[in-house]
Amino acid sequence: MKRPFITSISGKGGSGKTMVTALLTKILIEHETDDTILVVDGDPATNLPEVLGIEIRKTIGEVVEEFRKSFQDQSLAASFRKDALLEYLIMRDCLAELKYFDFIAMGRGEGEGCYCFVNALLVGILSKLIHNYTVVLMDMEAGLEHLNRRTDRHVNTLIIVVDSSKMSFKTAERIREIITEVGLNISDMYVVGNKIPQTDIDKLYSWSREVGYEVAGIVPYDPLIEEFNTKGIPLLKLPNNSIAVEAVRNIAKKISLID
Ligand SMILES: Nc1ncnc2c1ncn2[C@@H]1O[C@H](COP(=O)(O)OP(=O)(O)OP(=O)(O)O)[C@@H](O)[C@H]1O
Ligand SMILES: [Mg+2]
Repeated sequence: MKRPFITSISGKGGSGKTMVTALLTKILIEHETDDTILVVDGDPATNLPEVLGIEIRKTIGEVVEEFRKSFQDQSLAASFRKDALLEYLIMRDCLAELKYFDFIAMGRGEGEGCYCFVNALLVGILSKLIHNYTVVLMDMEAGLEHLNRRTDRHVNTLIIVVDSSKMSFKTAERIREIITEVGLNISDMYVVGNKIPQTDIDKLYSWSREVGYEVAGIVPYDPLIEEFNTKGIPLLKLPNNSIAVEAVRNIAKKISLID
């Protein structure tokens, strides 16, 4: 097993990032490793809590917004450092300590420049938090902005989820370029093919070789995921022998997340 295991799960919008993050979490829980696990929702849309079936109090974006308002209202606390106070509030209100893993969601800032500020905060807090965990799984937003902003600078394993759309491959290629441009030093870079038709699998392998990714595996279309999604049942409750869970278990082995 590779430890620490810090992974960012990226890719085109709707390619299956959140599904992969949720199922990797499920596999870790099922495997009963001794790991300390942090799951991060880095997507401003904050879908992951629902997909995992967990409740969160506040996102980082919400805490930052409240903090701003309170400082506008009153000129309190000129005597202590604002960033230390903000960090304290985020740890108190945003970090959910659950039975099998801890969870934090970035959320969305309001107003111009806010998102960037929230992202910068997330980077700062993650840099500190990450050292407390042996596994960190980050479900990222669809855009490529986070790579520019170096949210991924602690990441040692990159997972790009691709579906069969051309756009999805283009996004993966662009991510590969940005990693080089930004100078991110990521030791393991994988693609996960999601819902790729059997006829396109060879193509996926040759394309990955060219671009510089290793194929971690393929997650087939799983009707149970759609059913759970329609009924609003968390993906952590998928049966251990469902098609997608079996596939993600093999992926987890391939990328050394589990033995
Ligand atoms: N292998 C699969 N089989 C069946 N349904 C799937 C599969 N993978 C993903 N889905 C469904 O497709 C939709 C998009 O997946 P998901 O939310 O994981 O994508 P995403 O990349 O996180 O999207 P976004 O960019 O909006 O965050 C979801 O409704 C999900 O349940
Ligand atoms: Mg998502």
